[in-house]
Amino acid sequence: MNRPKQDLLGIEPLTKAEIIAILDRADALYATDNAKSDAMAGKTVINLFMEPSTRTRTSFEIAAKRLSADVVNVSESFSSSKKGETLLDTAKNLDAMKPSAIVLRHASAGAPQMLSSAVRARVINAGDGSHEHPTQALLDCGTMRRHAGKIEGLVVTIVGDVMHSRVARSNLFALSKLGATVRVAGPRSLLPPGIEALGAEVFDRVEPAMEGADVVMVLRLQQERMNGGYVPSLRDYSRFFGINARNVRAAKHDAIVMHPGPINRGVELSSDVADGARSVILEQVAYGVSVRMAVLEMLAG
Ligand code: CP
Repeated sequence: MNRPKQDLLGIEPLTKAEIIAILDRADALYATDNAKSDAMAGKTVINLFMEPSTRTRTSFEIAAKRLSADVVNVSESFSSSKKGETLLDTAKNLDAMKPSAIVLRHASAGAPQMLSSAVRARVINAGDGSHEHPTQALLDCGTMRRHAGKIEGLVVTIVGDVMHSRVARSNLFALSKLGATVRVAGPRSLLPPGIEALGAEVFDRVEPAMEGADVVMVLRLQQERMNGGYVPSLRDYSRFFGINARNVRAAKHDAIVMHPGPINRGVELSSDVADGARSVILEQVAYGVSVRMAVLEMLAG
């Protein structure tokens, strides 16, 4: 993928054909219920997670085990980074143990790129700061394609904290390459300047952004990346930008509702919609294992 060393650092460097190849392989794996294979037998995958994660870390672990790889999980709280070791030193020491792949989540944008040039193992970006979360975008696109039968021509409305969202950035790159129309809606304070240049149509209000949408992708309000001042209060945010049973009716009658998780219930998304008939949130999670199997198999299998 990101040549010459085959890493997955982001969606931005991928071609449309490369994205489709991953989705096609993930679909094939999903159809077998992610059947166990020996594609990575005798190989080791290290999950190096320097930020919290439930879905991505577990999903990569299950995916690697389905491919018969040995999996080692390293989290920040139990690593020597607590004693002051740099990320690069940590990665080089792990690389000396000869893993086939290092899956990295890190709070700093660009951390996977830095590792890529320093280690022999394949590097897979599992989310770096507000930069990219490529496997999340791949599983999101795959879920949309499974529902609509295609991506080209879909209208996808992304609502919420776009500013801090690596999920939104990766999806913008992927959906633009695949021919979807992408709209973003949120308070101006949470829409990065120049987002139009990435191919997004910008809306200040939720209902007009959702008119005729095939997909409503709701983003988490990332309070851990805010130093205050982005929204007046959670109640105000929810009132104007929260997705609920009333405003979701502006989308197409068969529109699906997505969320990468974790959800702030009652803030960006009401529980009746999160758990309702339009929601494909748990399907996203299920398909994520197939996407991560496809990525691991193609890079390190
Ligand atoms: N979607 C996602 O990245 O979730 P986690 O933070 O739980 O991995």
